[in-house]
Amino acid sequence: MTDLTATAQSILRQNDRGGYTVPTARLYPFQWNWDSAFVAMGFATFDEPRAWQEISLLLRGQWADGLIPHIVFHAPSDDYFPGPDVWHTRHTIPTSGIPQPPVLASAARLLVDHAQDRALAEAEMAAIYPALLRNHRWWQTARDPQGTGLVATLHPWETGMDNSPSWDSPMARVATDTRTVIRRRDTTHIAPEMRPRAEDYQRFIHLVDHYSALAWDPARMFATAPFKVADIGTNAILLRAERDLLALSERFGTVSDSREIAARIARQTTAIAAQWSASHGIFLSRDLLAHTPIDSATSAGFLPLWAGCVTQDQLAGLGATLDHWQTLVKRLVPSFNPADARFEPRRYWRGPVWHVVNWMIAEGFRAAGDLPHATRILDDTLADVVDAGLDEYFDPRDGAGLGGRDFSWTAAIYLLGRVRGIEG
Ligand code: DGY
Repeated sequence: MTDLTATAQSILRQNDRGGYTVPTARLYPFQWNWDSAFVAMGFATFDEPRAWQEISLLLRGQWADGLIPHIVFHAPSDDYFPGPDVWHTRHTIPTSGIPQPPVLASAARLLVDHAQDRALAEAEMAAIYPALLRNHRWWQTARDPQGTGLVATLHPWETGMDNSPSWDSPMARVATDTRTVIRRRDTTHIAPEMRPRAEDYQRFIHLVDHYSALAWDPARMFATAPFKVADIGTNAILLRAERDLLALSERFGTVSDSREIAARIARQTTAIAAQWSASHGIFLSRDLLAHTPIDSATSAGFLPLWAGCVTQDQLAGLGATLDHWQTLVKRLVPSFNPADARFEPRRYWRGPVWHVVNWMIAEGFRAAGDLPHATRILDDTLADVVDAGLDEYFDPRDGAGLGGRDFSWTAAIYLLGRVRGIEG
């Protein structure tokens, strides 16, 4: 075992709070949805029972309607804003009221496919399969009630890419007044120039107040959302998760489940294909209130590769875009087009490299048969860690570590890349 593998494993152990893993101490003191899906895959490389436990603790936060919230507040902490007193949701364990990119079914499938302890995997998977199916149905009914094939995102936090330049123009329509008093804690832990701006937080909290006043009712949220986009990242991750759930349904579900999932996959595949922009050489998100594509090339635009739904022409176009970006930065994949004037290489999702996104893009290139691009991304990902450590995100110009230290999902991706290679 290399030193870094041991370090990555010990970060996951240190961030373990008794069956669930915090993303990092203090900055994020609860269980986050998509973080935990990656963490489960990381744990699975050396402790399979603990990997399954991560998923079952996340599912303790699942709502009766199928939503898996983006934060489960298992234990109180003053280190984070906004806490449960701002969200005002009614679940027994306090939770937020919005989702996050649904990586969970893909993580569960990977755990099953690579299981050493087959009996454990079969039992755990059989136990959680109904929750995953309910969650995918929630996406359909709550976020695509008209069956367009694209799910709507109603808060930038749902995308995990909170301050992406893609949200600049749709967020400009959101008011900045808030009922909740904003008491940010993140900027007491991390340099403010690496975090979203004050104005972003006013709008983030305005949206939380708006939905909280609707008692988090999905239909009223969908009907009155001041921010409504089809995020290409969330939609691609959902399509991939549906494909993984389809494979799982053949062993753990029924023929009728498989038919239902296959019908959603067909609609989603067609709808994502329409988000391709030949002029940008990348897939784009869509503003569902303005009815226009969002003119920002971000790393999320590569994620249809992870969904396995790109044509040969699109594969070549995405490769060319990545080659161009590589001439402008040292380390792939910047979260935003480095040629754009709005590129900020140290500010959260406006430029820095995030290893979970790198891993999904690399795996997508590999599965599509483009090993050179897959290998280049994975090499850069490992080089960041060797040079800087297991930080939250990295400066694409020089690989400097940014944001929180000893970060769980960065450790998980290191383990996946090291122990399992590009195939996960
Ligand atoms: C934060 O608080 O920074 C998170 O991204 C919201 O989930």
